[in-house]
Amino acid sequence: MAPREFSVRAAVPEDAEAITRVHAASWRTTYADLVSPAFFDEFFDQRLDDRIASREARLRKPGVKSWVATTLGGYIVGFIDGGPARSEIPAYPAELYAIYLLKGWQGTGIGRRLTGTLAASFMAEGQTRMMVWVLAQNPARHFYERLGASYLTTAPIAIGERTLDECAYGWDDISALLTIPLEEL
Ligand SMILES: CC(C)(COP(=O)(O)OP(=O)(O)OC[C@H]1O[C@@H](n2cnc3c(N)ncnc32)[C@H](O)[C@@H]1OP(=O)(O)O)[C@@H](O)C(=O)NCCC(=O)NCCS
Repeated sequence: MAPREFSVRAAVPEDAEAITRVHAASWRTTYADLVSPAFFDEFFDQRLDDRIASREARLRKPGVKSWVATTLGGYIVGFIDGGPARSEIPAYPAELYAIYLLKGWQGTGIGRRLTGTLAASFMAEGQTRMMVWVLAQNPARHFYERLGASYLTTAPIAIGERTLDECAYGWDDISALLTIPLEEL
């Protein structure tokens, strides 16, 4: 298959609805075996307007770390978010909060590129380490391993009616994640 072309740019508040819809669609395909359709309906569809509004508000904050991948026609097919770590894992103050691509755009190099862009942004602030939480049953953990992350720990997380295991992974040197030189970003 010919490589699929995409671009990466910083997210803006006007992207909030498209990002939220990509998030919901990717959630459904990624976690279909783990959570019930009723949970998706409640978690995303019934709260879609609230989710769009809160994302838009977040994207208006100065210094927000959020990027989108778009088709050459400008359609958003994936996004990444990051920021200060939300849980206290020593030595990992920076966190990749979320990375989600539409199913048809997975496996095209977008994930690597978005992760490198977030890493570059942390490096510009003097950070050298980054962590991420991923459900133990999500194959995306192998994506993080492939990108050089090491397993750190496991903790329970409640999702809908179930309690699942979530694993933390960490990078000790995020400079290895850069896909293009820092000065070209
Ligand atoms: C996880 C995700 C962001 C990865 O992005 P991607 O564009 O599909 O991955 P890339 O094409 O950039 O892959 C980079 C490398 O990781 C490898 N990789 C990607 N997904 C993998 C997987 N599930 N298992 C093993 N290796 C994987 C690729 O083979 C590639 O290796 P290579 O450079 O040696 O060829 C994307 O697949 C996705 O959105 N998945 C669904 C949502 C999700 O699970 N998000 C994470 C929530 S914590």
